[in-house]
Amino acid sequence: MRSSLTTLAYALLANAVNGQLDIGSLLSGLGPAPADDPRWTDFHPPGTGDVRSPCPGLNALANHGFIHHDGKNMTLPHLIEGLAAGMNMGADFTVAISGAGLLSSPDPFAGAFDLNDLDMHNFPIEHDASLSRQDAYFGNDYSFYNDNWQQVLNFYDGKTTTDVPTASRAKYARVNDSMTINPTFTYGTREAIFSYGETALYIQSMSDPASGMAQIDYVRSLFEQEKLPFELGWRPSAAPITLQSLGNMVFELFLANPQNVPEGLTITANSYKDAFEAVAGGSNILANLTDGLSTSVGL
Ligand code: HEM
Ligand SMILES: *[C@@H]1O[C@H](CO)[C@@H](O)[C@H](O)[C@H]1NC(C)=O
Ligand SMILES: *[C@@H]1O[C@H](CO)[C@@H](O)[C@H](O)[C@H]1NC(C)=O
Ligand SMILES: *[C@@H]1O[C@H](CO)[C@@H](O)[C@H](O)[C@H]1NC(C)=O
Repeated sequence: MRSSLTTLAYALLANAVNGQLDIGSLLSGLGPAPADDPRWTDFHPPGTGDVRSPCPGLNALANHGFIHHDGKNMTLPHLIEGLAAGMNMGADFTVAISGAGLLSSPDPFAGAFDLNDLDMHNFPIEHDASLSRQDAYFGNDYSFYNDNWQQVLNFYDGKTTTDVPTASRAKYARVNDSMTINPTFTYGTREAIFSYGETALYIQSMSDPASGMAQIDYVRSLFEQEKLPFELGWRPSAAPITLQSLGNMVFELFLANPQNVPEGLTITANSYKDAFEAVAGGSNILANLTDGLSTSVGL
C-alpha cells in the first residue's frame, strides 16, 4: 500500500504536470477523426496484459486504439481527445464521467485510472442490473455476459433500429430480473440515473444526439464485439454528444415508463449532469479531481 506521503507526492506531481496543460487548446478543435484515419478499421481485441472495463464504449475505443490499447493510464486529456476522435463525445461529458472514473482508481488525485479500476462495485459508476454484464453478486461484473444481453435484445425483435420507448422497457427488464434473482440487489437514484445514461449512450453513440434511432446491428457490434461498426456503415455522429443531449434522453427514457424508477425519484433533463457532481461529492471536488477542467466545460 502506498504511504500517504507517496500519495501526496503523486498528487503534487500530477498538479505540476497538469499545471502545464493548455486548457484552451485542449478543448478547441475537438471532433471525430477523418474518414481515412486507420483506427476506424484497426480493430484488435485485448491481448495478454491488456485490461478492460465493464464499459463497452471504452473497451471498443481501446480495441481501436482511440484510447491506449493496453487500457492503462487514462488521463483526462487523453480521454477528451480519444472519445471525441472515436465517437464525437463532447468534452463536458468526458470530463464529468472521467472525474467519476478517477474515484475508482487507487490514487484519484494522481489524475489517471486503468480501465480495470472501473469494475469496483456500487461506486462510483458500476451498478447492478447492467444491460450486458452480471451483477457483482454473481461474480464477474465486467465482461460481456450474453444471457443478460439477450434479455435486452429480445425487445428489439423484428426491429432494425432502436427507439426510446422500447429502450426504456428493455432496460427495465434487466432491473426486474436482477431484483428477482439477486438478494443483494441495489438500485437507488445513482443507479437509475447512470443506467438510463448508459442506454442513452449506446443509442446516441451509434446514431446521433437526438433521433433515438440507432441501427440494431451497430448496437450489437458495440456490445457483442466491442467493435466500432465502421465496416457496417456506421459513422460517428456529426454533432457532438453532450451531457445535455444525454440528459435530455435520460429524461425521455424516464417519461416513457415513469413507474420504473425507485419510489419518489423524479428525473429531469439536468439529473444526469447533477448525478456526476453528486457522486464526486460536489462540484468543488469534481473541479479538484479534474484539475479545473470541469469548471472550464461549465460544470
Ligand atoms: C471516460 C469515459 C467513461 C467512463 C469512465 C465509463 C464508465 C462506465 C462504467 C464504470 C460502466 C459500468 C456500469 C455498469 O455497472 O453497468 C459503464 C457502462 C456503460 N458505458 Fe461507459 N464509460 C465511459 C464512456 C462511455 C462511452 C463514450 C460510451 C459510448 C458508447 C459508453 C457506454 C456505456 C454503456 C452502453 C454502458 C452500459 C453497459 C451495460 O449496462 O452492460 N461509456 N461505463
Ligand atoms: C501516463 O500518461 C501521461 C500523459 O499522457 C504520461 O506523461 C505518463 O508518462 C504516462 N505514465 C505511464 C506510467 O505510462
Ligand atoms: C418481472 O419479473 C417477473 C418474475 O420473473 C415476471 O413474472 C414479470 O413478467 C416481469 N415484469 C416485467 C415488466 O418485466
Ligand atoms: C481542492 O484543492 C485545494 C488545494 O489544491 C484545497 O484547498 C481544497 O480544499 C480542495 N477542495 C476540495 C473540495 O476538495
